[in-house]
Amino acid sequence: MAGGWISREVAPLAGKQEQLQELLTGRRTYRRFDQSKPVPDQVVREILRAQQVASSGNNRQRLRYLVIRTPELVEQVFPLTRWAASLPEGEGTPRPGEHPVMFIAVLEEKAAESRTTATDAGLALSNMTLAAWNYGVGSCIMGNIQRKPLKELLGVPDHMEIYLMAAFGYPACASRIREVSQGEDLAYYLDRDRDYVVPKLRIEEVTEYR
Ligand SMILES: Cc1cc2nc3c(=O)[nH]c(=O)nc-3n(C[C@H](O)[C@H](O)[C@H](O)COP(=O)(O)O)c2cc1C
Repeated sequence: MAGGWISREVAPLAGKQEQLQELLTGRRTYRRFDQSKPVPDQVVREILRAQQVASSGNNRQRLRYLVIRTPELVEQVFPLTRWAASLPEGEGTPRPGEHPVMFIAVLEEKAAESRTTATDAGLALSNMTLAAWNYGVGSCIMGNIQRKPLKELLGVPDHMEIYLMAAFGYPACASRIREVSQGEDLAYYLDRDRDYVVPKLRIEEVTEYR
């Protein structure tokens, strides 16, 4: 459906759609947190409930989740994660007092690696980070992690691998998107307040209708 009109059928939902769009747009990557504010148990539960209802290839549900929120362990995990590769060295790394307060590791069984793992993990992480943001908890999905030492540190069993992780905490910075055209620089950057600006391509430049 092209165009921006709203039919009578969907008009009653328009308010809800605005709320959803606000949630989706606010759920950016956050890389600085208020380290003094833990994520409450109830919010952790909601994050995990969001994972439970995610779709997966053939409904196999092969992924497993490791919640790391003991402060000492979170601090041991932190140096094994790499932040903001697009920014000059160290600029996007949370400073002391800005570290995340929780990580969730997405684990996959080595033997069970399937063609849908990437999609399954993406959907689960999308659900979890959205649920977190609904409670004002920001997140950063993390693939640039030292898997071997992390596996040892966290006591991940031999037959499992860490596929991806996500860091969580109440943001201590803002992030906003800026619409850009193809060919423009897509690298995110920090503005004068050290808030994130994330370029996103215009819808009409990445979409065709048939
Ligand atoms: C699969 C995946 C892996 C990522 N790994 C990292 C990472 O290791 N470190 C990091 O700082 N950000 C990481 N990110 C965050 C991306 O850099 C971020 O999503 C991107 O810059 C766009 O920003 P946005 O999420 O606010 O739209 C990752 C994101 C995804 C989807």
